[in-house]
Amino acid sequence: MPASPAGPAAEIAAGLCAPQARIAPKFFYDAEGSALFERITELPEYYLTRTERAILEAHGAEIGRLVGPGATVIEPGAGNCRKARALCARIAPACFVAIDISADFLHAAVAGLRATLPALDVRVLVADLGAEFSLPPDLPAGPRLSFYPGSSIGNFDPAPALALLRRLHALSGPDGALLIGVDLVKDEAVLEAAYDDAAGVTAAFNLNALRHLNRLAGTDFEPAGWRHRARFNRAQSRIEMHLEAADDTLVSWPGGRRRFRRGERIHTENSYKYRADAFAGLLDRAGFRTSTWWTDPAQWFAVFLART
Ligand code: TRP
Repeated sequence: MPASPAGPAAEIAAGLCAPQARIAPKFFYDAEGSALFERITELPEYYLTRTERAILEAHGAEIGRLVGPGATVIEPGAGNCRKARALCARIAPACFVAIDISADFLHAAVAGLRATLPALDVRVLVADLGAEFSLPPDLPAGPRLSFYPGSSIGNFDPAPALALLRRLHALSGPDGALLIGVDLVKDEAVLEAAYDDAAGVTAAFNLNALRHLNRLAGTDFEPAGWRHRARFNRAQSRIEMHLEAADDTLVSWPGGRRRFRRGERIHTENSYKYRADAFAGLLDRAGFRTSTWWTDPAQWFAVFLART
């Protein structure tokens, strides 16, 4: 059954009417948003993706030894499976379970993975990590390694981040592990440039959410009347992304409207930045027994291996 149009429209209207207006980050990802996001990961200012890749390249063999032979790698939000492909090529697990909410995307990505790594047993699970789901019953008996790259954990507020780490702990099973990428606190000019690049790709990505809303909820946003803002909030240790009204404006949709003053903002996303010791503490609170981590020479990004 297709999703009821009232679902997203009602959620969007509620967010726009909140005292601090907000748009849920999931509304970034229409086809255009997904394509812009791919471009973000390749930007010179966006150091996260390439730094994480370099750490995994440098330490992949060691990670493989620590995890042990015959492992099953499980990746929630596997998307295009590009990171999983690089990881599996290095640690040679027996099995890979790709989990994602978008079935179409996943099946295409998995076909590519099977073609490059024919010896790997690749499984597909269309599921949302936020909801209940079960793993295929016939997975190999070896250890499970959950994989959660890209500092996606940073897009959750502290309490939901801890809850997610607990779910990843459960997913990893007994004698399993979690391999997770985390962006670290650093100079704020470096952080802000990563989320406000010179070519304007991140701005286009943020503004594209307004077009997506116009289609989903019938809002009449004029994207040219809004500005992309990305600021590091040091007290909360997070990059905050907003859309700021360039002038007084009225946004209307079937069933509602909201007036925005010039300079008033809509909050679209947070990206938390951790200190490595604080993140180790969070893993501890989520129930992991031990954690080891690797970083790049500038200590901009960390990859943690935490054991259940
Ligand atoms: N988790 C990554 C980060 O926080 C990727 C990401 C999610 C992102 N949403 C974003 C990057 C919005 C730029 C803008 O950096």
